[in-house]
Amino acid sequence: MNTYSSPVSVAIAGATGYAGQELLTLLNRHPEVHIAAAMSSSPDSATRPMPRLARTWDGKIEPLNRAKLTESTFVFLAVPEAAAADLAPELLEAGVKVIDLSGAFRIRDAANRAKWYPATTLLPEGVAYGLVEHNRTAIEQASLVACPGCYPTAALLALTPLMQAGLLDLSRDVVVDAKSGISGAGRTASDRTHFSENHGSMAAYGVLGHRHVAEMEQSLGCEVTFVPHLVPLDRGILETIYVRVTPGTTAEAIGEALGRTYQHAPFVRLTGDALPEIKHVAWTNFCDIGWKFDAAARRLVMVVCIDNLVKGAAGQAVQNFNVICGFDERTGLR
Ligand SMILES: NC(=O)c1ccc[n+]([C@@H]2O[C@H](COP(=O)([O-])OP(=O)(O)OC[C@H]3O[C@@H](n4cnc5c(N)ncnc54)[C@H](OP(=O)(O)O)[C@@H]3O)[C@@H](O)[C@H]2O)c1
Repeated sequence: MNTYSSPVSVAIAGATGYAGQELLTLLNRHPEVHIAAAMSSSPDSATRPMPRLARTWDGKIEPLNRAKLTESTFVFLAVPEAAAADLAPELLEAGVKVIDLSGAFRIRDAANRAKWYPATTLLPEGVAYGLVEHNRTAIEQASLVACPGCYPTAALLALTPLMQAGLLDLSRDVVVDAKSGISGAGRTASDRTHFSENHGSMAAYGVLGHRHVAEMEQSLGCEVTFVPHLVPLDRGILETIYVRVTPGTTAEAIGEALGRTYQHAPFVRLTGDALPEIKHVAWTNFCDIGWKFDAAARRLVMVVCIDNLVKGAAGQAVQNFNVICGFDERTGLR
């Protein structure tokens, strides 16, 4: 068990981004944390006002300062993958614990990692995949936590208990059909994400080519058909998951596998027949999972919702931090 004297000194790289601002908000009200530094990428962006944090955080955004990052006990990396791949080894070398929100260190297989995250040339020792509900022991020992992507977080929380219980019929397709609010793409607007493209519309993207599929397949050990869509919401993810279960699987067995897995998981809410909605999880660290089961067809449809910026990013990062530090995992997240 790690022991840290409170308050624990933390720094955030990427504090001006969507995930970073969420992180700053959460860490600022975390009772065991001292925010030693919050950084942007350059002197210009450091002066950008962040009205949401006015009067709640009295610190100052400063430009990226690699040496200063190493002065904190923990560094949260809320930066693009290539920047995280570049910064993390130096921080680890200096003995800093790293909580990385990017995808840089999520994929264990070297060829797969080179395909999806080519900037990551090396997977450091002591990396743990940060899905607390399924990997707590490794996270407790980790020097770097690779927080799961937003889409895999929802899909894996729904499917892993069924996979582990042997209830999924893997001769049939596992389909994850996902809808995400626009903040999932980060702060920089693009043709796809700016208001006039999105408002009143909905579009599939990354079909059969989104890198989050590698993460889902790595954890589940089976192939996944994953289709993400952008929807005109600022935040939130809803995934509809279509699977077939093995012969003889009952509704009770499905409920039991999920219930047993999450009986002590404070952020997973099983809603059963009452299918979840984004508005019930927005701004929270909850993952809501509901399902409908057709026993005759062995067809199971699951609906899962998270807030991409909280359980899908900053909240999950804080949850991981709490686990490493030995704090109640809900600290700063209630
Ligand atoms: N958005 C989500 O829902 C979500 C969910 C899960 C994980 N993530 C991951 O979290 C990370 C941040 O995502 P985001 O959506 O918050 O992106 P974002 O809104 O584009 O913010 C990026 C942040 O990184 C900083 N930055 C950019 N290039 C940098 C560099 N070379 N060195 C240091 N800092 C740099 C930016 O600083 P400036 O202000 O100076 O530009 C900004 O603070 C990404 O790796 C993303 O994949 C995001």
